[in-house]
Amino acid sequence: MTSGLEVRGLSKSFDGLTVSENINLDLPAGARTALIGPNGAGKSTFANLVTGILPPSSGLIRFDGVDISRMNEGARVRLGIAKTFQITTLFRHLTVRENLRLPILERERRGFRMFRPADRFPEIEAEIETCLSQFDLHALGDLPVEALAYGQQRLVELALTLALKPRVLILDEPAAGVPSSETHLITEAIEALPSELAVLIIEHDMDLVFRVARSIVVLVNGRILVEGTPAEIAANREVRELYLGGSHG
Ligand SMILES: Nc1ncnc2c1ncn2[C@@H]1O[C@H](COP(=O)(O)OP(=O)(O)O)[C@@H](O)[C@H]1O
Ligand SMILES: [Mg+2]
Repeated sequence: MTSGLEVRGLSKSFDGLTVSENINLDLPAGARTALIGPNGAGKSTFANLVTGILPPSSGLIRFDGVDISRMNEGARVRLGIAKTFQITTLFRHLTVRENLRLPILERERRGFRMFRPADRFPEIEAEIETCLSQFDLHALGDLPVEALAYGQQRLVELALTLALKPRVLILDEPAAGVPSSETHLITEAIEALPSELAVLIIEHDMDLVFRVARSIVVLVNGRILVEGTPAEIAANREVRELYLGGSHG
């Protein structure tokens, strides 16, 4: 039995349009793999297939040797496969602390009764504090999420997802829309993730990709064009043409 996530021959079509074609990918514990490629290549679709938001047309997804391809999203989250929350799912009027309490209560199956102090549990409050410190959000804990800089809001998303204690984390464009003056916050947070966590990063910011990835998979038209170490990908002629070609018209 292989541990971690294994994707074998995964394909997805929408009304005859093939968006993922025969994808094979391993994401063992500790992986830092980047999935890159042009807009429309099928990166988000792949993430949605892995997390169970979309059912595959064919192929297998195994986690610790168990076929999870037909499991729904909630069941996969409980197994430890998580994609980052989107800012749109944060409660913008609630504070960072209040937002963080939600996934912890969810994980502990204690329900969303955050407004009643009697329902607070010291171990959960302690975990919230640890989490705030880990992401350098301590000073911002009592501010409503909407008062934070955009890059910090994205850190809160990451913190919320990690509160589920996943074993596989999928980040779909964690730096998208973040001003360049704040992208270092995202890069540093990814660098500080638990080392045993398997991480798949979908990202257009190549500085970020080359800082954090140990393996890079290039997706074009739903197919894996090439995969390799960052050095191999940087030196690959087809990849260079794909990226440089586009910007030179
Ligand atoms: N739910 C859907 N129904 C039909 N087509 C879709 C759907 N989701 C994505 N697509 C199409 O699949 C292709 C890949 O999209 P996507 O996975 O979002 O690419 P990426 O994340 O790499 O930009 C695009 O052509 C997109 O229009
Ligand atoms: Mg996408």
